[in-house]
This record gives sequence, structure tokens and C-alpha cells, in this order.
Amino acid sequence: MPLLQVNKVEKFYNEETKVLKDISFEVYPGEFISIIGPSGAGKSTLLRCINRMVNFNQGTILFDEQNIGQLNKKELRKVRTKIGMIFQHYNLVPRLTVLENVLHGRFGYKTTLQGIFNRYTQKEKERAFFLLEKLGIEEHAYKRCDQLSGGQQQRVGICRALIQEPSLILCDEPIASLDPNSSKIIMDYLKMISSELGIAVVVNLHQVEVAQHYSDRIIGLNKGNIVFNNRSAALTNLEIQNIYSSNMQDLIMI
Ligand SMILES: Nc1ncnc2c1ncn2[C@@H]1O[C@H](COP(=O)(O)OP(=O)(O)O)[C@@H](O)[C@H]1O
Ligand SMILES: [Mg+2]
Repeated sequence: MPLLQVNKVEKFYNEETKVLKDISFEVYPGEFISIIGPSGAGKSTLLRCINRMVNFNQGTILFDEQNIGQLNKKELRKVRTKIGMIFQHYNLVPRLTVLENVLHGRFGYKTTLQGIFNRYTQKEKERAFFLLEKLGIEEHAYKRCDQLSGGQQQRVGICRALIQEPSLILCDEPIASLDPNSSKIIMDYLKMISSELGIAVVVNLHQVEVAQHYSDRIIGLNKGNIVFNNRSAALTNLEIQNIYSSNMQDLIMI
């Protein structure tokens, strides 16, 4: 059974341009999938449709058998606890500690009052430390996030996603602001999360080689269309050209 089924999804921000056109694909539990494609292809929009950070216009998205497009606010909040999100710029609260930022991942499980007063259980704190240790940053637990390097901040972002106990993690260009060394560390952790913890990981990337190295499957997006969806090994140079071509017509005429 797929964990996520995206079926004929369309998205437009305005009447003139469809940003996503007839998008269909499936994600299975524990799969590692990269989405590649030129800037403006619709990669970020696609990830945001999955957890309904943006509403889509047509089609259906089923996550864990729930119809994402039809959930009310409360149901959506519940489903979102199962979908972690990792961002290019980490989206941490800079003046709060590493530990506090990780515990924020529990927010979706709290009542409003518990959330306001930052009430966390001993078990949640222990879990936060366990995750910080797993990501190799436990020694920074009480530092403010803005004192950490980019790579370390992204590891905090990963801990915050993991403490949600997600079955899917969406990553929007998680290594775009990092140097090659930190990028490798982050990608290795994301891979570990899918292979060891069985959490499906969907990553938007702009480095083709990185996608090829880490992914079970690659989805190529061009102008809102899926033009490739196959095992990493099947991604030939011609397919890469096709995914990154600015004008599909040119390629077809060759
Ligand atoms: N909030 C928005 N309002 C209007 N247009 C948007 C918005 N977000 C993205 N777009 C447009 O949608 C297209 C796809 O953008 P995006 O999903 O960010 O692509 P990518 O992540 O592949 O670079 C672009 O043309 C972009 O300008
Ligand atoms: Mg983007």
C-alpha cells in the first residue's frame, strides 16, 4: 500500500498559469525520493500541496488513506503531525535554544494552552535528547540556535521533524545553503531516516548527482509536468537534458 497517492493534481496561483499540471505519483513507506527540475518547475509548490500549506485546485492527495484536500482544520492539524517538513533556511526560532526548537515539533500534539506555556513532558524531553544525540548535536542542546553553524541548524530541523513521529518527511532544498561537507552529513542522515527508521523522505534538490546518489527513485519536473519518474539508475543524460530543457518542443523536434 502506498503511503502517499497524488492523483491528477493541478495547481494555479492565478488564472493564466498552471504551476502544476496533472501530477500523479505514489510514495511507499520508507522510500527515498528526490524531486529535481529547473527553478520555477513547481517543486516547492508540489511539496506544499502535500501538507496543504497551499491548497491545490484539482485532483486528490491521499496520505495514509486520508483525503488531504477534504480535511477540516482539526483533521489537517492531526495529519500534519505525521508529515515532517525541512526547509532550506531551517525555519528555527533563532533566539530559542536547540532543545526548545526541537520540542516545538510536539506543538501539533498540544492543546492551545499547553502550546502557549511550552509544557512538555519528561518523556518528550528525553526523546528530544535522544534525537539530538542521534544527530550528533546533544552537546549544543542549551545553546541558542543562532550560535550554530548552518549544518548544525539543519540537524536541529531534522530533530524537530523526527520528534513529531512522522511517517513522511518533506524536504525543500535542505542542502541549498550548505557547503559540500555539511551537505553530505545532512543527506546521510536523511538516508538513514528512510532506511533505518522506515520513514518516507521526499526531497527537492537541485544537484542531480546528489539525487542520483541517495534516491531510490527520482521524479523529474519540468514546467509543472512530471517528465521522469523512475529508479535513479534509469536517469540517463538524455533524461536529464529533458528534465532541464527550457523548451520541450525543441527537444521533440531534434
Ligand atoms: N505564492 C505564489 N504566488 C504566485 N505564484 C507563485 C507562488 N509560489 C510560486 N509561484 C510560481 O509558481 C511557479 C513554481 O514555483 P515553485 O513551486 O517555487 O518552483 P520551484 O520550487 O521548482 O523553483 C513559479 O513560476 C513561481 O513564480
Ligand atoms: Mg523551490
